[in-house]
Amino acid sequence: MKRYKIKFITFFKNLILLLRPHLVFGFIQHLFLTISNTIQLSRWISAQSKNKLLINDFFDWKRDHYKRYGLYQSVLNILNEEKAAFNYLEFGVCRGESFKWWLENTKNSEHLMVGFDTFEGLPENWGVFKKGDMNAEIPLIEDPRGRFVKGLFQDTLPSFLKEGHLTNDKKLIVHLDADLFTSTLYVLTTLAPYLKKGDILFFDEFNVPNHEFFAFKMFCDSYYIKTKLLGAVNNYYQVAIEIE
Ligand SMILES: C[S@@+](CC[C@H](N)C(=O)[O-])C[C@H]1O[C@@H](n2cnc3c(N)ncnc32)[C@H](O)[C@@H]1O
Repeated sequence: MKRYKIKFITFFKNLILLLRPHLVFGFIQHLFLTISNTIQLSRWISAQSKNKLLINDFFDWKRDHYKRYGLYQSVLNILNEEKAAFNYLEFGVCRGESFKWWLENTKNSEHLMVGFDTFEGLPENWGVFKKGDMNAEIPLIEDPRGRFVKGLFQDTLPSFLKEGHLTNDKKLIVHLDADLFTSTLYVLTTLAPYLKKGDILFFDEFNVPNHEFFAFKMFCDSYYIKTKLLGAVNNYYQVAIEIE
């Protein structure tokens, strides 16, 4: 029976490929992807309702960008209790608003804080934003704990990792604010060997179904990563997630 089923599926699949469906249905590909990812996102959000979160405003019609600082602070309060130095990596710095928040609100002189960006804007179109949008001067900072790495993550992250800063004795805080699916997936998969229990991921556009959420989902599924949501604001636009 199984043999006939496989034969039928193979025949049907080959027939579909022969008919070149992209020529007729190509225009609805993005819509289908969005529907599929939105369903997955909604399922993921529902599954979080049983967790006790540090902060969560779901559901609120009004988006307030400054709420993200409340999320950072609620996680930082826990990190401060632990009193240990951590490594903070931010992917997507632009003018440095979030990076500067982390520099200004953390005092431990042993923290390493590194921000990565092309500083030439997005490498691809993202929704209404075009390639090259969000370009910015490298922010000026005077804190010796912080530094920036200019270039595509895909070019700069491997050599940064070879410098050997990411040791097991320090918690890793990864702030993913590159907006794009490709950039986010690249960073997560490249950092996979360095991520350990207790490390924390921040996302800045998590509830965009085809980008940060999709990259996170692909990453967790592919690497069998278990996570725990710590907090969410702006209806899961910004989230903090702990690696289990
Ligand atoms: C939304 S902005 C970051 C905003 C910043 N975290 C803040 O809140 O102030 C996104 C940034 O990601 C950067 N970016 C996206 N993909 C990248 C990649 N593959 N390599 C380097 N930079 C990237 C863009 O250049 C852009 O400056």
